[in-house]
Amino acid sequence: MANILVTGGAGYIGSHTRYFLEQRRHRVIVVDSLERGHRELVPDGILRQLDLRETEKLSRLLAEEQIEAVIHFAAYIAVGESTQVPEIYFVNNVGGSLSLFSAMLSAGVKRLVFSSTAAAYGIPAKVPITEDEPYAPINPYGESKVMTEKILEWLDRYREFRSIRLRYFNASGAEPDAGLGELHDPETHLIPLILRAILTDKPVTLFGDDYPTPDGTCIRDYIHVSDLAEAHIFAVEHLLEGGASDVFNAGTGSGHSVKEVVDAVERVTGKRVPRTIGPRREGDPPALVANSDKLQRSLGWKPTRADLDRIVSDAWKFATRVKH
Ligand SMILES: NC(=O)c1ccc[n+]([C@@H]2O[C@H](COP(=O)([O-])OP(=O)(O)OC[C@H]3O[C@@H](n4cnc5c(N)ncnc54)[C@H](O)[C@@H]3O)[C@@H](O)[C@H]2O)c1
Repeated sequence: MANILVTGGAGYIGSHTRYFLEQRRHRVIVVDSLERGHRELVPDGILRQLDLRETEKLSRLLAEEQIEAVIHFAAYIAVGESTQVPEIYFVNNVGGSLSLFSAMLSAGVKRLVFSSTAAAYGIPAKVPITEDEPYAPINPYGESKVMTEKILEWLDRYREFRSIRLRYFNASGAEPDAGLGELHDPETHLIPLILRAILTDKPVTLFGDDYPTPDGTCIRDYIHVSDLAEAHIFAVEHLLEGGASDVFNAGTGSGHSVKEVVDAVERVTGKRVPRTIGPRREGDPPALVANSDKLQRSLGWKPTRADLDRIVSDAWKFATRVKH
């Protein structure tokens, strides 16, 4: 059992990870500004409403709560927004991370798990993608994550600051019985958008059906958010046991097309998805699928909820409880 700080724990992936950490009997403190998070996703008593850029306050909190490791989710996450106002992505995602790392160093806390992304690879030369694919982000969001990864590489080298960088593919699904699920505003992710189309009877736009894939729609690697949360537990426990810094893809190794996701939603819900086909979105690669062998081999993690119908069914149970 360890004292673990979770930044962004009022958000989607952070709230699930907090839940699984507590199941493992770790003691969790959440730092979140609530700018894009939800108070109701955090149990009473463990939330500290702070912005990552409040370095001194963070440093004091780390010392007072005797924090041993940090799992760092807090960031802005919308690719489209990052192309409209790139500066806020660098201020928040890079500046906020740097402030957190400085606070950790001054409090003597040197173990961190970082939320990175498949967007670090841009349009990859080969799929499934392995971790040795070079950094090639094609939007400011991806660049902000790459810059943070590079800071962590330097801190490992010169400050004995050990980190695990997890490059997530498409986090999806929910843990409905724990009252947890996806609540982004605005929502940009496919499965909640499709479910909302059913619940509101307003069509969802599917971007492009002329890609060089078997059915013409984009292929993505959907990882159940609870499997992803468990990957963080393997990662943080590895660091707490004195393990070395490393980088891992977090995905399932199999891809599903947008049409396959729509079919799964219709199968699971028994309802038709109202939809229109729009043009391709700029910078959307035809296929993004992770090779996650390294994560499975090195840390012993395995996705156990990868079935697409399971992911959709959990997301549906959560979505039907939320007002639209
Ligand atoms: N959702 C995905 O599919 C996905 C894929 C790849 C990577 N990621 C990364 O995972 C992390 C979590 O994603 P999510 O989907 O849970 O996002 P989210 O928006 O649901 O949660 C992010 C949380 O961080 C908080 N936050 C943002 N800036 C902050 C700051 N400066 N100080 C304090 N709190 C702040 C927000 O209030 C929010 O609660 C992000 O770093 C994201 O880049 C997500």
